[in-house]
Amino acid sequence: LFGFKTNKVSGYFNPIEPTDIDELVLPKNFKYDIVAAFDDVINSAGEKFGSGCDYNAFFPLKGSNVRGLLVTNHEYSTIFSIGPVKDGKMTADQIQKNLYYLGMSVIEVYRDENGVWKMDTRSSYARRINGFTPFQLTGPAKGIPALKGATSVQGTFANCSGGVTLWNTVLSCEENFEGTAAVSKLPDTHYGWVVEVDPFDKSYLRKHTALGRFNHENTAMGLAADGRVVVYMGDDKKDACVYKFISKNKYDKSKGRGNSALLEDGTLYVANLKSGKWLPITLAEVSKAAAKDPSLKNKFKSQGDVVTYCQEAAKLVGGTPTDRPEDIEISPFDNTVFICHTNNDSHGNIHGHITRIFEAGNDLGAMEFDFEIFAAGGRQSGFSAPDNLAFDSNGDLWVVTDISSSSQNKGVHKSFKNNGMFVIPTSGPDQGKAMQFASGPVESELTGPYFTPDEQTLFLSIQHPGETTQDLSNPTSTWPHRRGENMARCGVVAISGFKLQ
Ligand code: FEO
Ligand code: CA
Ligand code: CA
Ligand code: CA
Repeated sequence: LFGFKTNKVSGYFNPIEPTDIDELVLPKNFKYDIVAAFDDVINSAGEKFGSGCDYNAFFPLKGSNVRGLLVTNHEYSTIFSIGPVKDGKMTADQIQKNLYYLGMSVIEVYRDENGVWKMDTRSSYARRINGFTPFQLTGPAKGIPALKGATSVQGTFANCSGGVTLWNTVLSCEENFEGTAAVSKLPDTHYGWVVEVDPFDKSYLRKHTALGRFNHENTAMGLAADGRVVVYMGDDKKDACVYKFISKNKYDKSKGRGNSALLEDGTLYVANLKSGKWLPITLAEVSKAAAKDPSLKNKFKSQGDVVTYCQEAAKLVGGTPTDRPEDIEISPFDNTVFICHTNNDSHGNIHGHITRIFEAGNDLGAMEFDFEIFAAGGRQSGFSAPDNLAFDSNGDLWVVTDISSSSQNKGVHKSFKNNGMFVIPTSGPDQGKAMQFASGPVESELTGPYFTPDEQTLFLSIQHPGETTQDLSNPTSTWPHRRGENMARCGVVAISGFKLQ
């Protein structure tokens, strides 16, 4: 193999073969450094890095590509973070630990003089955001009766993927919040939102209800041709829909974070894949559809109710059920929109596929679209269960996979071995062809790929290694193989080895 051209700066890599070893395997001449792992101290206050690392975003400090803030989502707990849960019932102590280890971390990372990426625990920015942190609500559901009048709520958890805004803040998505809300005796209408945090400002913590309440996977933000902000979102649930939010007002770069107000007022749309139309999920449209069903008579009294019961509202107006829409990315080259439909065993879509949406006139603000299956999972393509996505500057799509731990390395998933990371060009002669760049440790899922601006470093989370472990004295993975330890830790790595051409 001569290797595979990736982006302008990364040169070539020799694709790897699938493997089932308990290690993060990379192509020749690439290496990884662990910048933070579960329970590592992140700051002078002694706060600890959380569990279930997912989305990452890097914010350069003073324009540096080798020092910046890394924001990481923490999706869920494992036996390694809260211990075994007996008979499916968490103890009071486990409930507290669970809320503590979920949410997000802001840490400071840097590359030292030897080229090794590390965490700087002296950072004044480093902090945890978790299930106890207070958030302000914005938008139509703020203060409504369905939320018992709440204008602020306790905490964030089940933070899966996310996205960076045009004004340099992070949107983090509350995905499978139901279990944690129930066991913590917190009202489930307070979760399932898109959360906004500013890595540089501790006091800025928002939940934007205008973007709907569902099992939020991600956000992908862009601009409509007329300057309004557009946010694409997946709802990772079997037979759930694809959404986009369009702000009422236009983006104004000079306003900086003031643009955040755009996420408080706008229209939420759901995709109908039969008509190729984006359908508005407004009180008027939902009421019209709900009038046909007497059981829904009093459910939708305001736009706040519509966004709160968004999954139901979206189906009422004609949203098409799809196969678990996970991450979405907008191509920086042609404004086409890529969606990972990870799988849906209810319909025999075992390996999933990547859907590509073509907005009318290449305008993200369009009301009509066409689509294709850009790449299908399976033996031939070499990947199964596509999940998170990231683009590099050459228009290559970096795709990580999430075959469930119980299915890995057996049956129809045998050939894929451990979960991995793949690079798929979106144009040119190799369009749609997947080349494997990484293979994760045993029972892990690779999540949150994020490049530094110079594309010399790729941050990547290693989520839930050793996930099926039942007995802490006999873990199924011991990654990252710390000396003297017999346990697995999730963590974030910095991958280097990308060479300038
Ligand atoms: Fe948390 Fe849909 O992945
Ligand atoms: Ca995911
Ligand atoms: Ca992404
Ligand atoms: Ca997944």
